[in-house]
Amino acid sequence: MRERLIRRIETGGSMPFDVYMEMCLYDAEDGFFAAGPVRSGKKGDFVTSPEITWAFGYCVGEWVDDNLPSAHAALIEIGPGSGTLLREIIAPWTDAGDPVYAVERSAASRAFHEQRFPTATVVAAIDDIPRGIDAVIVANEVLDNMPAALACRIEAGWVEIAVGVEGDELVLVEIPARPGVIEWCDNVFGEVPSGTTVSAQLAVSGWIRRVFDHFGTVAMCLIDYGGTSEELIERHASSIVRTYRRHQDGLDWLQHPGDTDITVDVNVTGVLKLIARAGRNARLLSQHDFLLEYGLVELIADTTHQEQHSASTGAIMAQLEHRSERLDLEALIDPAGLGAFQVILVE
Ligand SMILES: C[S@@+](CC[C@H](N)C(=O)[O-])C[C@H]1O[C@@H](n2cnc3c(N)ncnc32)[C@H](O)[C@@H]1O
Repeated sequence: MRERLIRRIETGGSMPFDVYMEMCLYDAEDGFFAAGPVRSGKKGDFVTSPEITWAFGYCVGEWVDDNLPSAHAALIEIGPGSGTLLREIIAPWTDAGDPVYAVERSAASRAFHEQRFPTATVVAAIDDIPRGIDAVIVANEVLDNMPAALACRIEAGWVEIAVGVEGDELVLVEIPARPGVIEWCDNVFGEVPSGTTVSAQLAVSGWIRRVFDHFGTVAMCLIDYGGTSEELIERHASSIVRTYRRHQDGLDWLQHPGDTDITVDVNVTGVLKLIARAGRNARLLSQHDFLLEYGLVELIADTTHQEQHSASTGAIMAQLEHRSERLDLEALIDPAGLGAFQVILVE
């Protein structure tokens, strides 16, 4: 992958960061998601909420249940990864014989879902789903993996940060910003101080537009880490791009193209603007508040009760099991971790 990137940059010129990210993650031969095994899960490279406890899927299922756009609407999960969330929410569709789609860019993951979910149709993109149908769409930690450009504000306007070559090393370089990047930054960030670096999430915007264009009535639950434009400007600079491999962060994405996950904080201001432009209302809340609203309060109370009961009867093993379950439930709403994720609900 490294050599291929270097050759491509030497012949085609510096590569905007979104093009680099696209290749690192989804290149058919060597992309992190496209070529590798299923990445999420305790044995994979990162653990997501549905991998921690079934309760995450239970709560998302409660939301789905409350927000069906119509009877027989399709259930669509975008980027199911290992399929753990879909497994928790698919049963009512299978029982009713209603359509389910797993939309997954990764060929490795698609092959896996075809075996695992015989009642679902597994496709590579929403364009492969019949147009005009009503759908309830869920996506957990997917938007952050959609390729984003990097832009830096200078006195004269925006420049892009791209990947170039120096000797036989991949290095960061500045290039003139493409018109689409300038428009996105002006629209989503407006005026920012000179020296501010941001990600321009054109792929996320394109995907949101396609959703509203493609389907009939949609309900949508998008969960990811991110923040508003104001929050991201405060947060960013060094941490604008993150990597994950084997549960560790920090692997250098310039040194290890294709070997590591590359993610960016999702700009919820950009997403909310597009939802509003489609004439729909959205609710923005933290994962903490979302899960408590959709059933986690009761699950934590039940588990705590069982833990206390086991303790009072001297059933040590059961007590430990319930304690471990309770800690998993609490991890989902930890304000310093998963609980701070953003949930965008189109209801
Ligand atoms: C971080 S993983 C999350 C997996 C799973 N949702 C979970 O919570 O464990 C992101 C997944 O989204 C997929 N993906 C990224 N962009 C996509 C897109 N536009 N359409 C469908 N899948 C996508 C990737 O291939 C990858 O499997």
